[in-house]
Amino acid sequence: MSEAILLVGGKGTRLRPLTTHTPKPLLRVAGVPLMTHQLARAAAAGVTRVVLATSYLADLFREEYGDGSALGLEVVHAAEEEPLGTGGAIRNAAEHLTCGPDEPVLVFNGDILSGLDIAGLRAGHQASGADVTLHLIRVPDPRAFGLVPTDADGRVLAFLEKPQTPEEIVTDQVNAGCYVFTRRTIDTIMPGRVVSVERETFPDLLGAGALLRGVIDTSYWLDLGTPAAFVKGSADLVRGLVDSPALPGEPGRALVLPGAVVDPQAVLSAGTVVCEDAVVEAGAVVEGSVVLSGARIATGALVHRSVVGREACIGRGSTVVEAVVGDRAEVGPDNQLPPSLRLDCGVRLPAQAVRTSAPVAV
Ligand code: GDD
Ligand code: MG
Repeated sequence: MSEAILLVGGKGTRLRPLTTHTPKPLLRVAGVPLMTHQLARAAAAGVTRVVLATSYLADLFREEYGDGSALGLEVVHAAEEEPLGTGGAIRNAAEHLTCGPDEPVLVFNGDILSGLDIAGLRAGHQASGADVTLHLIRVPDPRAFGLVPTDADGRVLAFLEKPQTPEEIVTDQVNAGCYVFTRRTIDTIMPGRVVSVERETFPDLLGAGALLRGVIDTSYWLDLGTPAAFVKGSADLVRGLVDSPALPGEPGRALVLPGAVVDPQAVLSAGTVVCEDAVVEAGAVVEGSVVLSGARIATGALVHRSVVGREACIGRGSTVVEAVVGDRAEVGPDNQLPPSLRLDCGVRLPAQAVRTSAPVAV
């Protein structure tokens, strides 16, 4: 028996409008919900029981996973009426753990795709006797992350969440959003109130002299919290740049799910996924993109590194680059959308409404 907590209660604000009706961890990445890849990797590492710390659109997690039996896991739902923050969520979810105080508990942020050796992290944690072990990665620009400087033995010296000033950037090592807690350390978090694990729990533990260990890992890692990262993560899974036992097919140039209809004269490339009941017509080109279920890409359209929402439509001859098209939105024929545009759910753009004068580099 090995237990884990998956943090999936965030609102996914940076991915709007995709997250208007679907929580970020349930958005389909390479054909299955992002967190299904995480659950499958955790199961492969020996995790048998997972507590889902939910809040935003919590019921949708129950509908998707129920008791977890479809994945060969025991899944328990711990819904927060009001979001408790990352630390509060871990504390609340821990009420549902069955392990003893000295047992290791894995904790995952619900928006990460990684090739981390999860079983190795847990085994190293137990061997070291640490209170918490943190998975760390090195990044060129650490400002969007939690900075975690360590000493030569891997002992964490400080935790600086989202540094604001150049002086605070003391390292390129950042929190990769996966921890092993010794159960009794979770029990030190104050119950029933909002707590940030990054801004309060980790600094408080360090102040109290606890042993926090950082383990730097160089395997694949990506936080799928922005549209650009989301499409990259999906394309990387489809192309096999990161392994997932949950990939619904073989890695390759593109993945077409059962029920989707792709004309033989359409071109899919760079890790595109076309989900159930979507249609891609003749002459359409779809590169490195996510086409969600029931969407339609019409003849001659070009879709590049974009997400096309459920039942959305890209009209004949239209160009969409690095865009997010919300569920049921419609781009009429012969539009050339400026790069990075986000179209809200249900918005209708008439034919030839937008013609970007600048050539679009694809
Ligand atoms: N249950 C619950 N309740 N979950 C929450 C809450 C809450 O109140 N707030 C956030 N979460 C979940 C999110 O759903 C997500 O899976 C995870 O906690 C992290 O939240 P993000 O909003 O994605 O945080 P971030 O990406 O800005 O920063 C975090 O991840 C970085 C690595 O990607 C921090 O942990 C950073 O320190 C870290 O470097
Ligand atoms: Mg994140």
